[in-house]
Amino acid sequence: MCGIVGYTGLGFVSAEAGAVGHGAPVASERPLEVALEGLKRLEYRGYDSAGVALVGPGLEQVSFSKKAGKLGNLVADLESRPLPAATAAIGHTRWATHGGPTDTNAHPHLADGGRLAVIHNGIIENFAALRRDLSADGVPFVSDTDTEVAAQLLAKEYRASGDLTAAMAATARRLVGTFTLLAVHADDPTTVVGARHDSPLVVGLGEGENFLGSDVAAFVAHTKEALELGQDQIVTLTPTSVDVSDFDGKPAQGKRFTVDWDASAAEKGGFSSFMDKEIHDQPHAVADTLLGRTDEAGNIVLDDLRIDEAVLRAVDKIIVVACGTAAYAGHVAKYAIEHWCRIPVEVELAHEFRYRDPIVNSKTLVVAVSQSGETMDTLMAVRHAREQGAKVLAIVNTNGSTIPRESDAVLYTHAGPEIAVASTKAFLAQITAAYILGLYLAQLRGNKFPDEVAAILAELREMPRKVQTVLERSEYVRATARSMADQDKVLFLGRHVGFPVALEGALKLKELAYIHAEGFAAGELKHGPIALIDEGQPVFVIVPSPRGRDQLHSKVVSNIQEIRARGARTLVIAEDGDDEVRRYADEIFWIPQAPTLMQPLLAVVPLQIFAMALATAKGLDVDQPRNLAKSVTVE
Ligand code: G6P
Repeated sequence: MCGIVGYTGLGFVSAEAGAVGHGAPVASERPLEVALEGLKRLEYRGYDSAGVALVGPGLEQVSFSKKAGKLGNLVADLESRPLPAATAAIGHTRWATHGGPTDTNAHPHLADGGRLAVIHNGIIENFAALRRDLSADGVPFVSDTDTEVAAQLLAKEYRASGDLTAAMAATARRLVGTFTLLAVHADDPTTVVGARHDSPLVVGLGEGENFLGSDVAAFVAHTKEALELGQDQIVTLTPTSVDVSDFDGKPAQGKRFTVDWDASAAEKGGFSSFMDKEIHDQPHAVADTLLGRTDEAGNIVLDDLRIDEAVLRAVDKIIVVACGTAAYAGHVAKYAIEHWCRIPVEVELAHEFRYRDPIVNSKTLVVAVSQSGETMDTLMAVRHAREQGAKVLAIVNTNGSTIPRESDAVLYTHAGPEIAVASTKAFLAQITAAYILGLYLAQLRGNKFPDEVAAILAELREMPRKVQTVLERSEYVRATARSMADQDKVLFLGRHVGFPVALEGALKLKELAYIHAEGFAAGELKHGPIALIDEGQPVFVIVPSPRGRDQLHSKVVSNIQEIRARGARTLVIAEDGDDEVRRYADEIFWIPQAPTLMQPLLAVVPLQIFAMALATAKGLDVDQPRNLAKSVTVE
């Protein structure tokens, strides 16, 4: 939610150009280039407006440009009205909270007679009271944003102390809510100061230059060496130094790490959209998430698990907390973990969990699932769970993010960067990681014999190849989607693990194609939703394996007949060789055979492709759907 980038550099970074770290900084185009490139990579976080602010030697004021709409509008403005060379820059891409998406409300916000610029991610909850006080002192406001209050407060503190770092700390102490703030001042053209409270901020460590970003995607093209900041920290960046302190001005430490993917992973790689690329990344996302999880004897080993084995043995309840697609991954995992470990598993939307007084104690394991590791609702649920004495294990994709840092343990998914706003490959990686966790608990608690664990792991290891097969069959799905571009309502049915897949299929269609879509448990159909069916209504049905247990298959086949009898057009996802279902399907999307619990990793793929292709046929932007943001860092 809002992307933030910061840069400061000497203006020469190559060894030939001179000894790095010496010599006076030189103004150049690089700060603007780095900021725009970073914003491009962070645009998934919000795209209501974009802006940059530059400072440089001899520049009396901050130079800036800001435009409503996507980054392209800002770039066009910069082409028609170029900014001067600079030594430091801050940049912002916005997901609007306070104040509509206009040029005026776009960041940066300026203060101190145009000599100070501030950008912000988060929500300042006490902004109204602060704005009243500042207005009473004669401070003029031009925007409707909460951010401008922070800018004016910072200006006031700066005038009092003449020290931007101290002023930032004093400002941070006055603010209530969540914020990452970055500021530059014309007085000090090689310094960028940042503050962080419950919103993300990571430092990129370069040579003769340093970077800031909401996440490492902002700077990974320039450096892989990074510094994770803790909560309530201030960072002061110059081209050759990074100083971290707390809000009281005491020196503090960040945590160094090396980014384990390179910039090309965040490129489209020949695909027409990030979404298409990420859907095609899925075999790798599953395979990489499985890598390195076993020792030589084949036992599951989870290196980052810092929870005592005795505590894990004593767990009597698991609660999965997550939002959106990650919550549906949790729903899938519930079936597997309960089946393998015989531990009750609840799945709860993180924002509901926290406010319903959940029963949580030291025997509860809370599993927080999040691609970004920054979703505020999930983070708040993590904090609440820990306050109640629960252990929290995070299943997260993004290194250096907040949720793993605040959890007792972390199991990283290795899906690589997910840029398209609607989640795809993270879903498969989250299911895979949750399954590994389930198998680990089953192994630890003796619910499964080692050979049983090994057999399930072997099935999981087959999945990347099978996902690839589904991808190779995607043309029929795309063609069907193109022929349905004028649909305004689509339903999805599934049973058992097919139910969360139906929910995820419906979510993808809502997110990408803005079509009213609902997912139902197939058995629930007769209790109400069947009233929605009329002549020609398209209904996707996820059909369980005919080789599976509990007559799941025949029950779903009966459900198909029920809806067909009422005029539905059935689009069926079925296993290769399922001859019975053929008779009841208007369209069939075949997936390879797999055990019931593995089927979600396959069945969801045609649904992702369908939503993407239908949205594309409608001329929509599948990477950046309207009103959404990838990393929702407000509650
Ligand atoms: C946003 C995104 C969704 C995502 C959800 C949870 O709403 O648009 O695609 O599933 O957040 O995100 P997380 O990063 O916590 O997995």
